[in-house]
Amino acid sequence: MSSACAPGKAILFGEHSVVYGRPAIAVPVSQVRACATVEGTPPGSGLVIDATDLHVCCPLRTASKAEHPAYALATTVQHTLQRLGIDIAPDLTLRISSTIPIACGLGSGAAVATATVRALAQHLGHTLSTLEVSQLVYQTEVLHHGTPSGIDNTVIAFEQPIYFVKDQPIQLLAVKRAFWLLIADTGVASPTRIAVADVRRAWQKQAAAFEALFDKIAAIADQAAAAISNGNTAALGPLMNENHELLVRLGVSSPELERLVRAAREAGAQGAKLSGGGRGGNMIAQVSPPETQRVATALKKAGASSVIASCVEATAGPGSGWQAAPA
Ligand code: MEV
Repeated sequence: MSSACAPGKAILFGEHSVVYGRPAIAVPVSQVRACATVEGTPPGSGLVIDATDLHVCCPLRTASKAEHPAYALATTVQHTLQRLGIDIAPDLTLRISSTIPIACGLGSGAAVATATVRALAQHLGHTLSTLEVSQLVYQTEVLHHGTPSGIDNTVIAFEQPIYFVKDQPIQLLAVKRAFWLLIADTGVASPTRIAVADVRRAWQKQAAAFEALFDKIAAIADQAAAAISNGNTAALGPLMNENHELLVRLGVSSPELERLVRAAREAGAQGAKLSGGGRGGNMIAQVSPPETQRVATALKKAGASSVIASCVEATAGPGSGWQAAPA
């Protein structure tokens, strides 16, 4: 039996504008995880997908139809087998479980795919590099999101903070001083694909205005990357607030997100913003440890369906700034 797990993720700065070639910063969130287990089965049983969260237990063949709830998962399996040079699906059961809420901006699809690719490769006796895993997962992201930037598969596969620019070499972001986040769920599921498609339509209508907003967000992401790598964590909250206002202007906030962002700020968070596709899903707030409980309580009172506290740990080593990821 082989198994692999992958974390959730949170985008700290630059969601949406990252789709248009601007930089973004993301961190893994290891408090929530997706796990995949692969087990051999008797000859002739074929490959069975057992995903309790999706209420799916069926042969790969059945899940490979576009309308099936496990279609993305089946496609991940097929891409992985293809990459490993395996033409006929082996006899095995792939079991998936996940504590990452679906369609909430925490990277549930990419985490499930990452765990699946790793568990399958391991079970079938292959070693894939982190970059290869990330590239395979990107193919699944295309099914989930249409035009993904690639940030979710990258941060989840590398499981480290990243400074990400689409189609550029991957850069790990050094964190000089740890800082704390609260991640609160509006409880409103919001598929990223829809928010991304709406932003695209608006950008097509008002290209100059949207390009200017993306440039402003890019400048914030660059300032935040410098602050994170220099240990200037006090700069992050105000930058989150600025980034949030620009996301509002892109049209991806919602009444529920606004309520949580306001509640976090009023309770003493250093800054707060929506995180991920928006329209629902999660928001993040930067908090100092003594404020954590007060802000978490305020978020719950304001309607958060769950609140996760997550520390972005300082990275080891003397380096600061950006560093190319190993291939
Ligand atoms: C999704 O986690 C973040 C978005 O920027 C989409 C993408 O980067 O593919 C909204």
